[in-house]
Amino acid sequence: METTLRMTERSMPLYAEVASRIVYLIEQGTLRPGDRVPSIRELSRQLQVSINTVKEAYSQLEDRRLLEARPQSGYYVRAHLPELPAEPVVRKPALKPTEVNLCDVYQMVMNDLHDPDLLQLGVAFPNPDLLPIDKLNRMLASESRRFRVQSVSYEIPPGCERLRKQIARRSLQTGCALSPDEIVITSGCVEAVVLALRAICKPGDTVAIETPVYFNFLQVIEDLGLKALEIPTSAQGGISLDALEYALEKNAGQVKVCIVLSNFNNPLGGLMSDAAKRQLVELLERYQIPLIEDDIYGDLSHSDNRPSVAKSFDKTGNVLLCSSFSKTLAPGYRVGWIAAGRFQKQIERGKLLSNVATASPPQLAIAEFLATGGYDHHLRSIRRAYARQVMIMGDTVGRAFPAGTRVSRPKGGFVLWVEMAAEIDALKLYEQAREEGITIAPGQIFSLEGKYRNCIRLNAACWNPRIEMAIETLGRLAARLLAR
Ligand SMILES: Cc1ncc(COP(=O)(O)O)c(C=O)c1O
Repeated sequence: METTLRMTERSMPLYAEVASRIVYLIEQGTLRPGDRVPSIRELSRQLQVSINTVKEAYSQLEDRRLLEARPQSGYYVRAHLPELPAEPVVRKPALKPTEVNLCDVYQMVMNDLHDPDLLQLGVAFPNPDLLPIDKLNRMLASESRRFRVQSVSYEIPPGCERLRKQIARRSLQTGCALSPDEIVITSGCVEAVVLALRAICKPGDTVAIETPVYFNFLQVIEDLGLKALEIPTSAQGGISLDALEYALEKNAGQVKVCIVLSNFNNPLGGLMSDAAKRQLVELLERYQIPLIEDDIYGDLSHSDNRPSVAKSFDKTGNVLLCSSFSKTLAPGYRVGWIAAGRFQKQIERGKLLSNVATASPPQLAIAEFLATGGYDHHLRSIRRAYARQVMIMGDTVGRAFPAGTRVSRPKGGFVLWVEMAAEIDALKLYEQAREEGITIAPGQIFSLEGKYRNCIRLNAACWNPRIEMAIETLGRLAARLLAR
């Protein structure tokens, strides 16, 4: 409300314009029932209008039963606002980028998360009903009380020792034997990968990365001034080692690092065998190229076997293993970690320089959850739920989409990759789905080379009748696009 009203062109009396500004703030929820509105004097100063104008505006709002005056205290938004007539239905804006800018599409897909009216099948968010939210939040409070000063202090790199100990203990399940000193706590897995890229590369360098791949990493690569060399990956065995070796030979000296999602990669769900992981580590060692391994979905195997990590075959510290608790416990806590091998010192320094430390209370809470909260029990139950839901959603896509549509069958995690007929443009499907109140991730954002225009990624973390109907709607829209 800083702008002065005097200079604006007015189509209504000044007091009505002042009143409409207050109404706008109420409608937007900036001013909520019970909130105090600026005093008459304050508002007259802010808007540079006379005291009488504001008085008139407030008295109009009192008449409309939006504000009430409280003696000696000022004006307040009434606790029970009169019901406003329903607004005309506004369709979701048709998002039709004329020139496809992947960064914008990526931003749109992420922004959809803010829209509570959209059915969220786009971003790979875990099912909130399967997260131990109350238990974690209780631990957040009790641990902050127990470690009173620590909870408000900087946990400078490498980060909270209790948490690093727990992560190190769990590393045995992945075939590693990490010590707490080898681990640096980060703000999520993305920060771990960014720190790794920063430690290894300089602008202009090339990063070998699977394709299709988690879109955020492509944006990060571009943002750091790096080039991506996309290596084919499969929904069964993960990155193609033959293609990687061929690419390394062909681009000798240019590729400075390789990023691989070894377990249940996003979006295909591919799982590398132990033999392939060993081969990958040896290949990169031979070429003296560090490996950034993202294992964020490793704990979400649909079977009882937790797969190994490539890091377990690393003898020289060439592998930087990155993960977080975003898929299993609490994405919003922003707690991740990296075991950076020979890059440990650079990572610690990079973390300190970029944001000093990850917030302390979430680190304490997750350390406590890992120590006493029954993390393994929790994992067993969410693995079963995701296995079931991924299967049901896959089957439903098979039934609802036009014949010939292919669907991934991941053995872990909770995302599905759907490949439709070549004629179907996933961006068009995204736009039309959005108009129906559904958001999905169009295939185009999973590559920088304009591939996967007939693919989409679906989040299968939740399953209910509304989602079933949404899949049927998507199938109908896809059939309509195909018919055109
Ligand atoms: C493969 C992969 N890595 C990292 C992330 C993000 O991790 P975080 O939220 O812990 O930064 C995601 C999220 O979707 C992901 O799919």
